[in-house]
Amino acid sequence: MPKSKLFSGIQPTNLLHIGNYIGALKQWVELQKKYDCMFCVVDLHAITVPQDPKELRQNILNTAAAYLAVGLDPKHCTIYVQSEVPQHSELAWLLSTLANLGELERMTQFKDKAKKHGERASVGLFSYPVLMAADILLYDTQVVPVGEDQMQHVELTRTLARRFNTRYGDTFAVPQALIQKVGARIKALDDPAIKMSKSESSANYIALTDQPEVIRKKIMRSVTDSDKYIRFDPEKKPAISNLITIYHHATGRNLKQIEQEFENKGYGDFKSAVAEAIIALLDPIRTKIENYLRDPSELQKILDAGRDAALELAEQKIKQVRDRVGLGRK
Ligand code: AMP
Ligand code: TRP
Repeated sequence: MPKSKLFSGIQPTNLLHIGNYIGALKQWVELQKKYDCMFCVVDLHAITVPQDPKELRQNILNTAAAYLAVGLDPKHCTIYVQSEVPQHSELAWLLSTLANLGELERMTQFKDKAKKHGERASVGLFSYPVLMAADILLYDTQVVPVGEDQMQHVELTRTLARRFNTRYGDTFAVPQALIQKVGARIKALDDPAIKMSKSESSANYIALTDQPEVIRKKIMRSVTDSDKYIRFDPEKKPAISNLITIYHHATGRNLKQIEQEFENKGYGDFKSAVAEAIIALLDPIRTKIENYLRDPSELQKILDAGRDAALELAEQKIKQVRDRVGLGRK
């Protein structure tokens, strides 16, 4: 039996952080043997908010280096850059003729970002989920591992696939989201009410390339909750629960074991343990990222091969789509 197709991507907007690792990359590494995987650096999504061209180019390489450093293996998966496969943009246009305004206006991520950018929010920010649907549907993807925040976009993708199939005949597989339970959403270290995000202050996140002393500082300064117990209770103790979740993912220990480990200990001891666990986790990752970037020739080769493999699949699919829609000439 051929393996099911899996697709996911991350925007090359800045340094990747442990939220991305726990919510996305760590899962990808485990999934790559089970599925036929495509992991994309989604640069077209990144430009829905203004990017400096030089920085964007660098971030594309940084993100790809992080994919490889965490253990994605080009023998098992296709790693490539979205804009190098123009069929993504073409399919996004075609799908945009099926998506309606009401649907897109309901997207929480759009509402949040539109608030921030006001009148200057781009049309691209609005149609962002359609491009994401195109990414997914272009490869007849069955499984889409994403964080909770992207769930709504995968739902929309399913809707668009069904709508296209109904109107033009069976063309696209209807994909499913795959969400990880504990740690689906890692919170900001300085504010557990919001998610850890690279677009906020640097006290908010731990980058995959942060040095040990930076990690220690950020964890020791992270906010805590009012009582002094180390207990997992996201409602009443959001800050400590967030650190417990991170610790769980860094060490593999379960929540009960962690609560027991720190039963008679205070926040200071707990935070030191969390910091050291993150340092141990990120040490080899940081070293590998630095190595890939120091001499990017291997990285470039992997991205060339990924692009070629993706182009071949994408061209086959888009031909079928043009034909179904009746575009161009026979
Ligand atoms: P982004 O950095 O927003 O492009 O997200 C890239 C991937 O990482 C997506 O699958 C997100 O759902 C996931 N992700 C981003 N931030 C977090 C977070 N704070 N916690 C868990 N997953 C996250
Ligand atoms: N929108 C996703 C995010 O911000 C990134 C993304 C773009 C994606 N295209 C995708 C994720 C396709 C999964 C599948 O995290």
